[in-house]
Amino acid sequence: MPLRLNDLNRNVVDAQYAVRGALALRAEQLREQLHKDPGSLPFKYVINANIGNPQQLDQAPITFYRQVLSLVQYPKLIESPPSYIKPDAVRRAKFLLDHIGSVGAYSASNGVDVIRESVARFIEERDGYPADPDCIYLTAGASTGVANLIRLVARPGNGVLIPIPQYPLYSASLSLEGAVAIHYHLSEKDNWTLHHDYLERRINEAAAEGIKPTMLCVINPGNPTGSVMPDEDIENILKIAHEHDLVVLADEVYQANIFEGKFHSFKKIRQRLVSQDPKYNSIQLASVHSTSKGYIGECGQRGGYLELVGFHQDVLDQIYKMASISLCPVVSGQVLTELMVNPPKEGDESFDEFTKETSHIRETLRERAQHLYEAFKGVEGVSCYPPQGAMYLYPFITLPARAVEEAAKRGMQPDEMYCMDLLNETGICVIPGSGFGQEKDTFHFRTTFLAPGGDIISDQFVAFHKRFIEKWH
Ligand SMILES: Cc1ncc(COP(=O)(O)O)c(C=O)c1O
Repeated sequence: MPLRLNDLNRNVVDAQYAVRGALALRAEQLREQLHKDPGSLPFKYVINANIGNPQQLDQAPITFYRQVLSLVQYPKLIESPPSYIKPDAVRRAKFLLDHIGSVGAYSASNGVDVIRESVARFIEERDGYPADPDCIYLTAGASTGVANLIRLVARPGNGVLIPIPQYPLYSASLSLEGAVAIHYHLSEKDNWTLHHDYLERRINEAAAEGIKPTMLCVINPGNPTGSVMPDEDIENILKIAHEHDLVVLADEVYQANIFEGKFHSFKKIRQRLVSQDPKYNSIQLASVHSTSKGYIGECGQRGGYLELVGFHQDVLDQIYKMASISLCPVVSGQVLTELMVNPPKEGDESFDEFTKETSHIRETLRERAQHLYEAFKGVEGVSCYPPQGAMYLYPFITLPARAVEEAAKRGMQPDEMYCMDLLNETGICVIPGSGFGQEKDTFHFRTTFLAPGGDIISDQFVAFHKRFIEKWH
C-alpha cells in the first residue's frame, strides 16, 4: 500500500503557505490552458501578482551581478574575458575565486570568510556601529535563517510572537515544528502600527496561559502591509524584548524597497540603546536580509545572511551546527550576497551602468506602485494605504453579505472567493488576506506592484470589482 495522508507527519500536512497555495496552482492551470488553447479564456495572460518574484515578470537581472556570477561559474572566461565584460567584474571574480576556490565546492557552513567580512562592512556603513563577521551567517535566502531560528526555539512550552497579518513563512515554520504561535495584531487604522502597550499585553496574556514567550518576529518593511516602522516604534519593541528576555527576529529583507519614510535597522537602534545604557547589551537580536528583494530580485539564486548579536556562545554553537547539517549555503548565492553588500563604487568601470540599471528598476517600481494605488483609491469599497515600502499593496475590501454566504457554501473564505473569481475572470492572481491572517470579519488581498501593463491591470481590476459587488449585492 502506498503512503496516504494519515501516514504522514501531521505538522507537514497542517502547514499552510498561501502565496504558493490554491490560487497559485489555479493560475498555473490557466496558464497551461492558454498555452494549449490561446482563445479559450476571457484574457490573454495570467499575471502573477501573488508573489514578490520580480524576474518572473519583466525585471532584467543587473549586468554586473550576472557578469561576476558567469565568471565564477566558468573561470576560463577570466583568462580572456569578452570585451563586454567590464574589468571590475573580472577583478571581483578573481578576488572571490582566490578565496573560495571553486563555487562547486562546499564552503564553510557559515559561509565564505571574505563575504562575511563584506557583509559586516555593509552593516557598519549602513548603521554607523560595528559588526562582527563571526556573528554573520550566510544563508540560502532569508527563509533558511528564519526557519532555523524558529526550529531552534521550538520546544514545548515556548511561544513565538508573530504579527497578524504576517508573511506565511512564519506560521508555516511554526506549524512544521509543532510550535506555538502567539499572534499580535498590527493596527490597520494606524497604518499597521504595532502599539507597544498592546504587545506587552499579548506577552503577559500568553504567559498567563502557561506559554513562555521566547521569540518576537517583526517584519520591517512589512509584508503584506508594505508599512515602514518609525525609529521610536523599533526602540519601544527592543525595550519590551529586553524586559521580557525575548529574542528579536527582525526580517529586514525589504530594507532597500522604501518609497516613503526611512528604513531603520533593528541593529542600529539596538546599538544606540546600548550606547545610552549598557544593560541593553543583553538584547538578543537576529536580523535577516536577502538577495531576493530590493532592486536585485534574484529570488532563484538563494542568497542572504543572518546577523546575530547578544547571543550566548552555547546558542551560537547550536546555530552553527544547524547550518552545518545542510553543509553550506549555495556558494553562487553567497557570491550574490557579496555583490549585494558591495556593489560597484564610483570610479569602477561598471558603476555607470549599474547606477542606470538600478535607478531604472527603482523608478519603475515606484511608478507601478503609485499607478495601482491611484486605481484602488478611486474604487468604492476598496481602501488602501499609499505605497511606503516592500513590494505590495494590501487593500481592505468591503464584501456584500451575500458574497460572504456564498463563500461559506463554497467552503472558502470570502476574500479567497473574491481572489479566485478575480483570477478566473481576469487572469490576475493575488492572495487573499485570509492567507496572511486578519481581524475577524475584515477582508483584504495582497498584490505585488511588479507587473508591467499597469493600465490593463487597473482597468481589469476595477471592472471586476464592480461586477463582483453588483452580482452579490
Ligand atoms: C518578509 C519576507 N521574509 C522572507 C522572505 C523569504 O525570501 P528569500 O528566502 O527568498 O530570501 C520573503 C519572501 O517573499 C518575505 O517576503
